[in-house]
Amino acid sequence: MDISSRTQVGASAPGKVIIFGEHFVVYNNEAVVAAINRRCFGRAELTKNFRVQIDSNLEWHNNPYSKQHGTNTNAQANRKLLEPLKSFCRSILKDCAPEMGLQIHIKSELVVGVGLGSSAASCVTLAGILRSVIAGTTSKEISPYDRKWVFENALNGEQMIHNKSSGVDCYVSTYGGLVHFTGLSGTTETAAIENQPLPLFLINTRKSHETSELVSHVRRFSMNRSKYFNELTRDASAVCSNGVRAIAKGSLEDIGRLMTENHKLLREIGVSNKEIEKIIGICFSCGALGAKITGAGGGGCILVLTRPETIPALNAALSGLNLCSEAIEIANKGIIID
Ligand code: MEV
Repeated sequence: MDISSRTQVGASAPGKVIIFGEHFVVYNNEAVVAAINRRCFGRAELTKNFRVQIDSNLEWHNNPYSKQHGTNTNAQANRKLLEPLKSFCRSILKDCAPEMGLQIHIKSELVVGVGLGSSAASCVTLAGILRSVIAGTTSKEISPYDRKWVFENALNGEQMIHNKSSGVDCYVSTYGGLVHFTGLSGTTETAAIENQPLPLFLINTRKSHETSELVSHVRRFSMNRSKYFNELTRDASAVCSNGVRAIAKGSLEDIGRLMTENHKLLREIGVSNKEIEKIIGICFSCGALGAKITGAGGGGCILVLTRPETIPALNAALSGLNLCSEAIEIANKGIIID
């Protein structure tokens, strides 16, 4: 195996928001998802001591973003992330470059456990670093083959963290942009949607969640109420295809209405709560076009579609609720090697 003559490799990958289709996508439904302008950055020094060490700011107390946006349960969530990340790196090196060791430093702008794809972005970043190390390349270009390798291996890593993962988070973190994800049946059939400057606003409830627990909750719901769940899944699929058309048309009203319809389906499967409903109510009273959970729910972030002129009123109405909010943009670039 030709190992890179470089002593350092760096990579970064974006977090994500799900515009349509979370949870249902685990059941091979489609989803619309966007990479966002908040990233995970990684840098690795190559060593010959066969060991993988990771130091990171993913621990809540080290992360300025977590301090600002986070919750006090994040420390536990972060510990759950770091050990699987190390195992993930070790398992790839063991097969491809057993003589190598890596000293990795991760710095992330993504708060863990609030639906922004922090674990996927960490896995994609690490997979990008590992790909460069194993391929022994100094190139910053990523070939389609390497990008696919990064996606597939990052997904294996994410599955060490979340058990059952649809792959949508790793996909958009690897490829970037706004994508229509249509499942992982052997290959990933995903067409990038013509990129629209969607006016997206994010509200962090500062209550972190455990994605795998929420996915298991939905699994139980799907088994206990299978007929109803199938109906909801069909509705979610229709929301998604109509959403793709609304984005292509650039109709903000339709996109917002469909996001809200999507949220109602998420509420039915039990991943919303009173606080989320209250915040969404406030968003509508300020003139938001649409609002929904993004990601696993049960806390985490709320994604709002709202015209920029509405934001001051929204911020004023949310002040005093101990939340964090900010406008976000879609990021065209997925994994970057530097
Ligand atoms: C998590 O970002 C999205 C979920 O649909 C889980 C998954 O797709 O693996 C809840």
